[in-house]
Amino acid sequence: MLWGGRFSKSPDRDILEYNSAENTRLDLRLVPYDIAGSIAHVMMLEKQGILRKKESSEITRALKGLFNKWKTSGLGLDPEIEDVHTYIERAVSRKTEHGKKMHTARSRNDQVLADMRMYMRDMVLELNKKLFSLQKSFECLSKKDGPMAGYTHTRVAQPLTVSFWCDSYVQGLKRDAQRLEDCYRRINSNPLGACALAGTPWGIDRRHTARLLGFSNVQENELDAISSRGEAEAELLSALGITMARLSGLAEELIWLSQKNLLEIPEEYCTGSSIMPNKKNPDALELVRGRTSRVHSCLFHALSVKKGLIPGYHSDLQETKPAVMSGTETTLASISVMTKMVKKLKFNKKNIENELEQGFARATEIADTLAMQGMPFREAHRKAGMIVRECEEKGIVLSQHPGAKEMASPERKRLKRTVKAEKNGYLSSEEKRITEVYSKLLR
Ligand code: ARG
Repeated sequence: MLWGGRFSKSPDRDILEYNSAENTRLDLRLVPYDIAGSIAHVMMLEKQGILRKKESSEITRALKGLFNKWKTSGLGLDPEIEDVHTYIERAVSRKTEHGKKMHTARSRNDQVLADMRMYMRDMVLELNKKLFSLQKSFECLSKKDGPMAGYTHTRVAQPLTVSFWCDSYVQGLKRDAQRLEDCYRRINSNPLGACALAGTPWGIDRRHTARLLGFSNVQENELDAISSRGEAEAELLSALGITMARLSGLAEELIWLSQKNLLEIPEEYCTGSSIMPNKKNPDALELVRGRTSRVHSCLFHALSVKKGLIPGYHSDLQETKPAVMSGTETTLASISVMTKMVKKLKFNKKNIENELEQGFARATEIADTLAMQGMPFREAHRKAGMIVRECEEKGIVLSQHPGAKEMASPERKRLKRTVKAEKNGYLSSEEKRITEVYSKLLR
């Protein structure tokens, strides 16, 4: 333990297990960030004359050795060592006696904050790439343009085109990336140096650690820094909750359209039934819909941990870790699944045309045509409505009705769109910058 001094008894195993079993498992994801953060901290301590050159280079060498070990064979964290911070300090101290100095002017409270910021930062950059790939899939699908029905109240409303429909998703995905950019800017602030909650009397240079770690600024007020744990997590989860709601809507739409035989989901993305030989089920889509609940609950998890905590550190805050990790990783996986699916969808043109006819989808065009010829819109609406009623009574469709067939030519041109996937420029440039930050630090 890092804190044995004031205790005369060792901690109870069951309590340690309860405190740290899950946490040490999750902390495996933080290993590279904890090492990078420690290297930056130690380099800063040396620059400030707090550590001697020999001390800092021995610590740094041990940290880099650990990093390489992690890269080749991974590390095993035991609940008894509480967390990644303890593990790494202990491992470094085994290599060099100067390891005992690496925690000068630092607390695990600001350390875990920095680790989590770096984790979230990487996740946002990864999410941004994935959102772009999904846009690309829609771009690809839009090339197979053709008619499509648009729905309100799940009933046929007006004709659309496949490219128009694809573009609508791409526009939403671009907003999702903007939302990520927005949280990224707040995530990317340096908490290190806040220590336990009150900063430190050591003459540290927080701006220098920020530069080394690629943070764009310093979270000046130390108490604010420590108390902000969970805030960026909730913000990110809220952005992801919106993305997942979009994916869930898309999943539901694909399930529904395929159930109506308007759309074919590739066989390799479906699964069968153990009893009913006829089944071809869209499990993956159902799971995207189902896992949206998980991501939404991660947001509530993080928010409700924050509720009622006075400023400072509390172990409750450790609970924001599973929330944000599960939320981001579930979202990443869900976007990937949708990216695969969308690219390979096949629309059933004949059935779509039939659906448009049966749903009298061109009725609004007819009303508009009449109104453009001079009839007040309300009257035109009534007249078009009467035509629909007549068709229904006679069992015919609009194109067979003498008063309607001339009237409207499908508005396909207006509804054809050129779909263009677009990477978020800011996040893409950050991706390059952050890669360089780590390669310099961990080289
Ligand atoms: N494992 C802890 C967490 O994730 C690290 C901080 C521990 N700090 C403390 N004072 N117990 O929150």
